[in-house]
Amino acid sequence: TDTEKGTYPHFMLKEIDEQPLALRRIIQEYQDEHDHLKLDQNIRETMKVCDRIYIIAAGTSYHAGLVGKQFLEKMAGIPAEVHVASEFSYNMPLLSDNPLFVFISQSGETADSRSVLVKIKEMGHPALTITNVAGSTLSREADYTLHLHAGPEIAVASTKAYTAQIAVLAILAVDTARAKGLELDFDPMRELGITANAMEVLTDQKEAIDELVRDNLGTTRNAFFIGRSTDYFVCLEAALKLKEISYIQAEGFAGGELKHGTIALIEEGTPVIALATQETVNYSIRSNVSEVVARGANDMIFSMKGLEQDTDAFVLPEVHELLTPLVSVVPMQLLAYYAALHRGCDVDKPRNLAKSVTVE
Ligand code: AGP
Repeated sequence: TDTEKGTYPHFMLKEIDEQPLALRRIIQEYQDEHDHLKLDQNIRETMKVCDRIYIIAAGTSYHAGLVGKQFLEKMAGIPAEVHVASEFSYNMPLLSDNPLFVFISQSGETADSRSVLVKIKEMGHPALTITNVAGSTLSREADYTLHLHAGPEIAVASTKAYTAQIAVLAILAVDTARAKGLELDFDPMRELGITANAMEVLTDQKEAIDELVRDNLGTTRNAFFIGRSTDYFVCLEAALKLKEISYIQAEGFAGGELKHGTIALIEEGTPVIALATQETVNYSIRSNVSEVVARGANDMIFSMKGLEQDTDAFVLPEVHELLTPLVSVVPMQLLAYYAALHRGCDVDKPRNLAKSVTVE
């Protein structure tokens, strides 16, 4: 069942493997019998009239929000900003005339997010919660809820909730675009279906990732993830995953920022994992890789099919360029998993962490 490990050694591995399934469930849940998108009419109307979206979240859900912002802006044409929940009230942005607050939370119980929700409700603004837990606090206290349908996530490190959040945000953006009569050359359910298959190809490649980990992350003190554009957001998530379960000090950097300081960290043998899934930045991210390799870095490049070069460590099956995070994150989750496993860490219950953070 959903809350048992079955034959899996860890919930995290099970939950990584469940991602294609969760994605297919989302496709089903958000599609009616005429293959139209199925969404609460009130959400559709609220999305149509809002003039700016404020996404509020923490940790992995924040990283999903960064990807979601792109969907909302590029597909639905709504300006969107993403805020770390715990920071929001210190530097509250000037709000637009018709703001909509979107809370992204696997558990729906994160106290930092809740305190923002309480505050903006007092101000009279509408709120939509995207959560995996029906009946959770953030769901009950918001005006509207979108469910992730990912099934219970038990491991402290979030995996299937992240990909489910991104998928639901894509559906929300497309639905809004259609409601607004915008021209879109993107069939979400078809593209998500292709993506689910691609994810399955990746979850079948555990041995290859395990080998990469043993060769490159075995005893390392630190590791860096570099990417540009959408890949940068996935790098932030990859670094968080590696930090929280393997305790390797990891950071995600925007490729272009390296020269502004962080390249000073590169030493002989420093692992640098590069994501290259976007055609527009393929050339520039590769020059970043050459720069770090010239300073001794041990590079591992994960590229999208069609953009690969001979030296790449891993080629990802091709999906629509807006949906690449859904596939590039899978080997990143597996990297973290095997790194933690080989270090003898408690994969499902890393030290000092709780599954949902109900204190501020
Ligand atoms: C992710 O692996 C973390 N354990 C953590 O960052 C988590 O995403 C964060 O605490 C937010 O939780 P939520 O999605 O339940 O609100």
